Amino acid sequence: MSEAGAGRPLAAFGRRILKVTRNEQLGAYRLLWVDDAAGPVPAPGQFAMIAAAERWGGGCDERPYLARAFSIARRLGNGEAAFMLEDVGPGTKRLCELRRGEGLAVLGPLGRGFSPAAAGQRLAVVGGGVGIAPLAILQDALVAAGAEHVTLLGFRDRVHAEAATLLGDPLVATDDGSVGHQGFVTELLEAELQRDPRLAVRACGPPPMLEAVRAICARAGVPAELALEAPMACGFGSCYGCVVPRRDGSYLRVCVDGPVVDAEQLERVA
Ligand code: FES
Repeated sequence: MSEAGAGRPLAAFGRRILKVTRNEQLGAYRLLWVDDAAGPVPAPGQFAMIAAAERWGGGCDERPYLARAFSIARRLGNGEAAFMLEDVGPGTKRLCELRRGEGLAVLGPLGRGFSPAAAGQRLAVVGGGVGIAPLAILQDALVAAGAEHVTLLGFRDRVHAEAATLLGDPLVATDDGSVGHQGFVTELLEAELQRDPRLAVRACGPPPMLEAVRAICARAGVPAELALEAPMACGFGSCYGCVVPRRDGSYLRVCVDGPVVDAEQLERVA
């Protein structure tokens, strides 16, 4: 069993306040960029706990929002780092509102990321919805290394599928058929697995998609690493809010043993 992302970059000590440099629309999502030139270079698949530095409760009479875990979506040579956001509630709304010059409180990079392909493997990079975020920085690393790969992305409709432009040369599936294949991204994966017996999978997306990827790969005997989601309060192993069961009856903490885990560790993705 591989240990995903062993030897990972460690977070700088404490929470850092980084300046927002850009906030861009990306279909149904926002891409929030910060200047992190002084921070550690993240490994693909690592995440950070982020919160708005000001108005982080939305107003003095409102309940404060907790910092939230977001995958690091991209890191540029000038030190800019990006997070992909979806406005799904008051906390993410505040993050989506951040403008150039405002502060973002960041703890990270945290967790274990994706492993490189083993000799002779070709990677299938498989993502769904906002879960494509860590696959962008992964693909950047694969391109830089000249590593063979295929990118398969799934979205609900055309507006959400605009986020596919974050990655190069993807095959896209949409639920409504408005872009690419009509159906699930896992159908694209099954077709690729039939074509190429050398495939190994790196995946991130909503739990039902990850469970389908896990089951397909288990049936086909294909190695897979999955970037898991879990509710996270601390992000560094203290609160045990993020535990998920392993196949062997023990538990893993998604924030420190993951978020990227070898699929063989799991009976299923819940
Ligand atoms: Fe606290 Fe994982 S988020 S232990």
